[in-house]
Amino acid sequence: MCGIVGVLGKSEVAPLIVDSLKRLEYRGYDSAGVATLDQGKLVRRRAEGKLRNLETLLENAPLAGSAGIGHTRWATHGAPTVPNAHPHLAGRVAVVHNGIIENYLELREEIVAAGAILESETDIEPVAHLVNLALDRGKTPREAIAEVLPRLKGAFALAFLFEGEDDLLIGARKGSPLAVGHGDGEMFLGSDAIALSPFTDRITYLEEGDWTVVSRTGVEIFDKDNRPVERAEARSSVTSSLMDKGNYKHFMAKEIHEQPQVLGHTLSRYFDYTTKTARVAGAEGLKFKDLQRLTITACGTAYLAGLVSKYWFEKYARLPVEIDIASEFRYRETPLSEKDTALFISQSGETADTLASLRYCKAHGAAIGAIVNVAESTIAREADMVFQTIAGPEIGVASTKAFTCQLAVLAALALQAGRERGVLSAERERELVAELIEVPSLALQALSCEASIEKLAQPLSKASNALYLGRATNFPLALEGALKLKELSYIHAEGYAAGELKHGPIALIDENMPVFVIAPHDAIYEKTVSNMQEVAARGGRIVLITDARGAAESGSSAVSTVILPDMSDIVAPIVYALPVQLIAYHTAVFMGTDVDQPRNLAKSVTVE
Ligand code: F6R
Repeated sequence: MCGIVGVLGKSEVAPLIVDSLKRLEYRGYDSAGVATLDQGKLVRRRAEGKLRNLETLLENAPLAGSAGIGHTRWATHGAPTVPNAHPHLAGRVAVVHNGIIENYLELREEIVAAGAILESETDIEPVAHLVNLALDRGKTPREAIAEVLPRLKGAFALAFLFEGEDDLLIGARKGSPLAVGHGDGEMFLGSDAIALSPFTDRITYLEEGDWTVVSRTGVEIFDKDNRPVERAEARSSVTSSLMDKGNYKHFMAKEIHEQPQVLGHTLSRYFDYTTKTARVAGAEGLKFKDLQRLTITACGTAYLAGLVSKYWFEKYARLPVEIDIASEFRYRETPLSEKDTALFISQSGETADTLASLRYCKAHGAAIGAIVNVAESTIAREADMVFQTIAGPEIGVASTKAFTCQLAVLAALALQAGRERGVLSAERERELVAELIEVPSLALQALSCEASIEKLAQPLSKASNALYLGRATNFPLALEGALKLKELSYIHAEGYAAGELKHGPIALIDENMPVFVIAPHDAIYEKTVSNMQEVAARGGRIVLITDARGAAESGSSAVSTVILPDMSDIVAPIVYALPVQLIAYHTAVFMGTDVDQPRNLAKSVTVE
């Protein structure tokens, strides 16, 4: 993960670098640092923890210089301490890095044997030393970089600054994204368009294996074989304004409450409200009509959106779905051919495992579709067909509105697939679309249960463990509820298919175990209620999330009930996601954890 930035500016660059890092903090917030050239000499400031610590440091001890690099870190190698914070210096070289250098141990041994003294436990400090050793042997900066880059195994986006070279930045990318920003007499490097958004909208994305030599007047780009290459300049539409929380205490609260609106935007992009049909532009490239199976790959919450859609594709389109988490899929060597279609789901569009899986499928000839929120992301750029979620920027680390918007797009794709495969009648499609169109209004009504959910936070905060149960499309939602609770409140939680409970996990049930049962009154409601009774009989403290009819028919086993409006099956997993998110949110707020930036996490997971 980590975010990197480099600036060749007209005046002092440290404040510009900090401004860019604020936008990159979604990539990690374990430490941050800036290095500049003050009259040709490398100087730096680094601070542990959030960026505001670095800002305070820079207020007390500003950095001069019109050339600099900066970094916000998600720790991989070495604890989040100042010595491990980037930029790393070695002699005349400073470097910032996003990614993992896999052969760093070998490189460490080599440079220690050469007499270097290492300050950090990181995988990148040896690289700075290797470049410095090459400079000591009389190489120019670009010769030194050309010599060292082929020796690095793993994934990286790098930005180098050199002592005495006030008009030079060198960047390189392999596996992790890096872009060049073009200014007027100024030039920039950054992890993505968001990092560059305060400076310019003229962006060149480096391609895999590229490296670049940047000065204030121009940029040269080389491919992995050191051949000069041209890469197109694009206009970025990423807004430069920093997102604010509005009247909300946290981004997450704002994003939960934005869902009725952004679901409306996303649904209206993919459904025709007049004809009540799914109308997904570009879906023909997914070849639904003759497809034997659809492969879906994603991570975390995005994977759970995919898991919900498996039920939809199989039920409404009779299309078998093979779904896996990307970190497993990428190494499974799944047989694929040009007859296959692979669908990837990612909010950020930068998740390393999802991207690697996409590349695997592409290399095997499959048609590639991607559901992404960030339109200019790497996954969006590498997919054959992009279906954007219109969720707007999601800043809270825990995904909320991106998840429900992913579901909205997936529902459209499933219905379109059903129609194209001739298994979904026009009438049934109209009924289902009519139900889906109601989602924004149902989501708004669902938010009115917030006060009752807030009351659950205090008792839940005392628990060490929690269980979430659901069946069919509510099973992935149970997994999502447990994931959200874990990441925000640090309470251990598990999601289970309700019917699976008696095959093991029921042994965990006692009077200290909160059990959330997600059970709208649907065709299998009674089955879930039976599982609920089994929990109640063993003293489990049940919170039932259901509708009025479900509440009336639940017996007296639940200690609390959250009542949502009535809704159809296809709509339920989208709308029921909201109370599930609110439970985790309010518990975290009650416990005083860092809701928008939970410990150890980052919004964009660009390392595997
Ligand atoms: C959980 C969460 C993560 C992400 C996962 C994938 O709340 O946000 O599990 O869903 O890291 O990220 P994207 O969607 O950016 O690929």
